[in-house]
Amino acid sequence: MTDENRVFIFDTTLRDGEQSPGATMTHTEKLEIAALLDEMGVDIIEAGFPIASEGDFEAVSDIARQTKNAVICGLARANFKDIDRCWEAVRHAVRPRIHTFIGTSPLHRGITNLDQDQMVERIHETVSHARNLCDNVQWSPMDAIRTERDYLARVVEVAIKAGATTINIPDTVGYTLPSESAEIIRELIERVPGADEVIFATHCHNDLGMATANALAAVSAGARQIECTINGLGERAGNTALEEVVMALKVRRDLMPYQTGIDTTKIMNLSRRVAQVSGFPVQFNKAIVGKNAFLHESGIHQDGVLKNVETFEIMKPADIGITETNIAMGKHSGRAALRSKLADLGFDLADNQLNDVFVRFKALADRKKEIYDDDLIALMSDSAANT
Ligand code: KIV
Ligand code: ZN
Repeated sequence: MTDENRVFIFDTTLRDGEQSPGATMTHTEKLEIAALLDEMGVDIIEAGFPIASEGDFEAVSDIARQTKNAVICGLARANFKDIDRCWEAVRHAVRPRIHTFIGTSPLHRGITNLDQDQMVERIHETVSHARNLCDNVQWSPMDAIRTERDYLARVVEVAIKAGATTINIPDTVGYTLPSESAEIIRELIERVPGADEVIFATHCHNDLGMATANALAAVSAGARQIECTINGLGERAGNTALEEVVMALKVRRDLMPYQTGIDTTKIMNLSRRVAQVSGFPVQFNKAIVGKNAFLHESGIHQDGVLKNVETFEIMKPADIGITETNIAMGKHSGRAALRSKLADLGFDLADNQLNDVFVRFKALADRKKEIYDDDLIALMSDSAANT
């Protein structure tokens, strides 16, 4: 595996994730999440938007001071005031980065009231300014996917010439599809002079449920930085979920020979912490980190995994740090699962005893959605009392 195949993970839980209405985190919580992200091996942490508020500025500055390994990045609009404020916050980091952006699509140009040439001028002066402050500068043409292709190539070239070291291509409104996501990255890498000197990043939103697929397609086309958040937290339908892209790259290395620096065994703990501090619970059937992602209830599935776990599992729960059992007892469960579960609880049953308990277990499961260990222990006490 060569370095060309190393994909950098840029986590923006604390910036784009926290922008979700209602997901505000306290200063202490942000510092804790940043420390966990750093420990997990995230390459770049986007810690906030320093000009947005005093609180954001303090959080980015303190995260910059405390972080040992990851690059610490702050967001700034395309003006000197934002960029200076961002630099003031990130400059304390061992490895600081300024991320500056401007909306380049016709819709966004309309909002900033800049024509194409004026915007080119603005990009040139703001990226040059950022580069004079910091040797690690990321530039994003917001709404890149809906920007005219020729104009997109032109502004990317200007940003590279002005000193950007990472070019991020955001699908700001979650509009693209995998084929287009790949095509845009490939085209930019092929046609923009200087493209081979920078890293291309992909930043996808999930409005059509495509964020993970679009990010992976961009990587196949040459992007080497994925921007993502824990649990896919983010505005509207969220951002690319870190756990999904990282595990997809790990599980399908046969088709996608890329590697990240993530210690995947730390994913579950981070997912739970982000859900707690953001107040955004994870849906039960969410890929990788949902409560049900590794649970089997139906008799056929339980029997399968008890005989060979690979029959219904494409990755090991332990790989993402799950230590709990993968068998859920319920009305679809079969005898084999009940026997195995009771054995785990210390009850070794003869076949006739199992038959008796199984009948009563099914009756209970018809009345109760979830069967806990305590319910099974109570069933066993009842059968002891009845014999
Ligand atoms: O979605 C987006 O375009 C963004 C930019 C600020 C990079 O979050
Ligand atoms: Zn975004």
